Amino acid sequence: MSLPSAMSLGHGLYGGHRLPAQPVSDQAGRIFARQWEVCQKAAMIAIDQPPHWERGTMAGIVDAVTERYLYSLLPARDATLRGMERYAAAHGVPIVGPACGRVLYQLARLIKARRIFEMGSAIGYSTIWLARAAGPKGTVYYTDGDPANAERARANLRRAGLLPRVKMLVGDALESLASTEGSFDLIFNDVNKEQYPEVFRRAVPRLRVGGLFITDNVLWSGRAARPAARGDSATRAIQKFNGLIYGSPRLLTTILPLRDGLAVCEKLR
Ligand SMILES: C[S@@+](CC[C@H](N)C(=O)[O-])C[C@H]1O[C@@H](n2cnc3c(N)ncnc32)[C@H](O)[C@@H]1O
Repeated sequence: MSLPSAMSLGHGLYGGHRLPAQPVSDQAGRIFARQWEVCQKAAMIAIDQPPHWERGTMAGIVDAVTERYLYSLLPARDATLRGMERYAAAHGVPIVGPACGRVLYQLARLIKARRIFEMGSAIGYSTIWLARAAGPKGTVYYTDGDPANAERARANLRRAGLLPRVKMLVGDALESLASTEGSFDLIFNDVNKEQYPEVFRRAVPRLRVGGLFITDNVLWSGRAARPAARGDSATRAIQKFNGLIYGSPRLLTTILPLRDGLAVCEKLR
């Protein structure tokens, strides 16, 4: 970005560096230009780095600068979520991250979701966003096949003060859904990608009309938009799933190209 175009940014903020409104003299202008170059270099280095919770797993749907900008706008999270983001980055746990977590929270609040079923909860990061939205009278069903994940999630949820509104189900998420009675206001799907078409078949009938079926990773780092390589069963399953959710007359679907693609489906009937 050239100096004039950088300076013309309305909010005066680029890469975390606040810009002065305008140089006051030629000399001040030259000094500023030099400082700006140094700042810009530092900013570009920072901008090119994936957010810390994404290192090594950045989806690459939105260009890196725009992605960084979107994340820079987010309000700070509390210590529990921040700690989980650090843990996920250090241990390669593919959490939804704060931008999509916030979408889950916002959508759950908008429809006043009280009964929420989550499929693939890992260390409980997305569970926390959903449980906060559900409120003290809400229930979120946590599911994960890995008992070690569940143990860690339990500790995180306890720390967040949310354990009383979360039911922990360890085992296959599709079986857990089948053995849990009642309908749900919101189902969030983040299990193995090969299972997505089957999740569609099982989850949609379990939602109330007006409820939301939300699914992560539907763009799959852009692979969903390209012919799947031979043997790439995950990409094929996601492509099939995307066809199902857009083709279903029972659903009104939009894919948000945020992070790795978040599909939001409203159940119409
Ligand atoms: C992408 S991670 C979930 C991240 C979590 N939703 C978050 O954003 O914080 C997927 C998790 O789903 C679990 N999983 C995958 N397939 C599953 C299945 N069929 N049943 C239960 N858990 C499953 C994995 O053990 C893993 O922890």
